[in-house]
Amino acid sequence: MRHLMSPLDFSTEELETLMDLADDMKDHPEKYSESCHGKKLATCFYEPSTRTRLSFEAAMMNLGGNVLGFSSADSSSAAKGESVSDTIRVISSYADICAMRHPKEGAPLVASTHSTIPVINAGDGGHQHPTQTLTDLYTIRSLQGSIGNLTIGLCGDLKFGRTVHSLINALVRYENIKFVLISPEELRVPEYIREDVLDKNNIPYVEVERLEEAMPKLDILYMTRVQRERFFNEEDYLRMKDFYILNSEKMELAKENMMVLHPLPRVNEISVEVDNDPRAAYFKQAQYGVYIRMALIYTLLEVGTC
Ligand code: CP
Repeated sequence: MRHLMSPLDFSTEELETLMDLADDMKDHPEKYSESCHGKKLATCFYEPSTRTRLSFEAAMMNLGGNVLGFSSADSSSAAKGESVSDTIRVISSYADICAMRHPKEGAPLVASTHSTIPVINAGDGGHQHPTQTLTDLYTIRSLQGSIGNLTIGLCGDLKFGRTVHSLINALVRYENIKFVLISPEELRVPEYIREDVLDKNNIPYVEVERLEEAMPKLDILYMTRVQRERFFNEEDYLRMKDFYILNSEKMELAKENMMVLHPLPRVNEISVEVDNDPRAAYFKQAQYGVYIRMALIYTLLEVGTC
């Protein structure tokens, strides 16, 4: 039995296989429409979500399976003090696979050690969001043809943004990747990512504050929201929240084939006028999240080998 806690839990070869499967599922949905008949996915979400939870549920339904779960800690027995380990022991007897989001870093990992079914980390605090990373990699491969030889700008809240942390971890394994880390001083990428991931793997990167300065160099611009829920006080959030706003004027500085990604939800950091720019790929990215999660469920349930 396999869990997914980090994007590094899959080798790059396994990721290619997963993405090939996602492609086939996208192109031939009818082939897979009963693959998970009789199987159940539990979505245990202790934090709000639109895309991750609903795309997991859509993915399982597309595979002919069923879904159950809760969408907030308040609507589960966590509100009465139940531990994650007790919850997953019980869920293990109700479902075949579980996707878990939790505000505490490491909670899905704890769950996985008490589980008899595969557990997928659907986002743990400011730490990791591996299935968003699978979505991001799959979107890049689908729209650019491959994942190497790219200069990638990561912009916004690089301190608390778990999608950024997971994505950096995953991308350093590909050929000729360069990063431009665009953030205010207070929201820089954590030191452990700079030292243990970027420096350790000799990955070229620069840190800049001005988005305009970075724009002309980028093949991909990955925008992120300032993570209000991770700030210790509202004042700091209000000061930071509109630090970056991508608009049509800034898009004029970018390459003609640059791609704009965003894990969503967005708040103000991408002006809606950018949505009509052919380089805006964030809604397509959310759609690709369904195919890659279908492939992930199918793989972790070992459906193809039954
Ligand atoms: N990208 C993402 O994780 O979105 P949700 O918070 O809506 O799941």
